[in-house]
Amino acid sequence: MRARVFPDYEAMSAAAADVVRRRLGERPSSVFMLPTGITPLGMYRRLVEMHRSEGLSFAEATFFNLDEYLGLAPDHGASYHVYMKENFYGLIDADPARVFVPDGAAPDPDAECERYEAAIRESGGIDVGVLGIGRNGHIGFNEPGSSFDSRTRVVALSESTRQVNAADFEADRAPEQAITVGMATIFESRKVLLLASGTNKAGAVAAAVEGDVSESVPASMLRSHPSAVLFLDEDAASDLGQGVAG
Ligand code: GLP
Repeated sequence: MRARVFPDYEAMSAAAADVVRRRLGERPSSVFMLPTGITPLGMYRRLVEMHRSEGLSFAEATFFNLDEYLGLAPDHGASYHVYMKENFYGLIDADPARVFVPDGAAPDPDAECERYEAAIRESGGIDVGVLGIGRNGHIGFNEPGSSFDSRTRVVALSESTRQVNAADFEADRAPEQAITVGMATIFESRKVLLLASGTNKAGAVAAAVEGDVSESVPASMLRSHPSAVLFLDEDAASDLGQGVAG
C-alpha cells in the first residue's frame, strides 16, 4: 500500500478527482465504488466542475455506494441516497440505471444485501474503489472486528461512530445499524483509493499503515492489496513515521 501526502485538503481532493477522470478517459464504462462523509466532498466538487466546464461524462460509468443506514428511506435527509444525489449523482450525467446505493428501507435487508452483492458481481466488479476512513479505522461501515472475508451485510454501528455521525440526525446518535459492502468485496476492487484528511484521522491512518494487519483496524487489510493507495493531507499523515513512501 502506497501513501501519497499532499500539502492540504484541496490538493488531495484534486488528485483524487484526477484519478477518476483518468480512469474514465481510459474506459468510460468503468465501475466505481464511492464513499460518503465530509472527506470526499472536495473530490465530488471537482468532478462536477469537470463535468460542467470540460464536458467530462459519467453517462457510461457504473456507481456503487459503499453503505447506507438501515431504516432510512431513500428520501430521508440524512440518507446516503440524498447525500449522493445532492453532492454528485444529481449534478452530473450519471445514468440512473447504473447508480446503486443500498436500500436502507428494504423490507428484507438480508435479501437487499444479497441483491447488492450480486449487482456488483454482474457489473464485472469494481474498477476503482474510493474509500474514506473512520476515526476507528473503519472502511465503509465495516467496524473494527469485521471479518476480512465479509460480504455486503447488515452491521451494528459502534457507539463512537454513532456519536461522530450524530450531527446528521435529530436524536443525539446515528442509527444503530447499517448496510455496508463487505471487506472481501472492497478488497476485490482492482484499484483502491483511500482518502483521509485532518488530524482526527491521523491515528487511524498510522494504525492502518504501520500497525499490525488486523481485523481490529479494518483499513489495515489494504496493506496486502496489490493496488491500494492512500491519499492523505499533511494533517492526516502527521502520525506517520519514516517508513512511508512519498
Ligand atoms: C462514515 C462512512 C464512511 C466514511 C467515514 C468517514 O461512517 N460510512 O464510509 O468513510 O464515515 O467520514 P468523514 O469523511 O466524514 O470523516
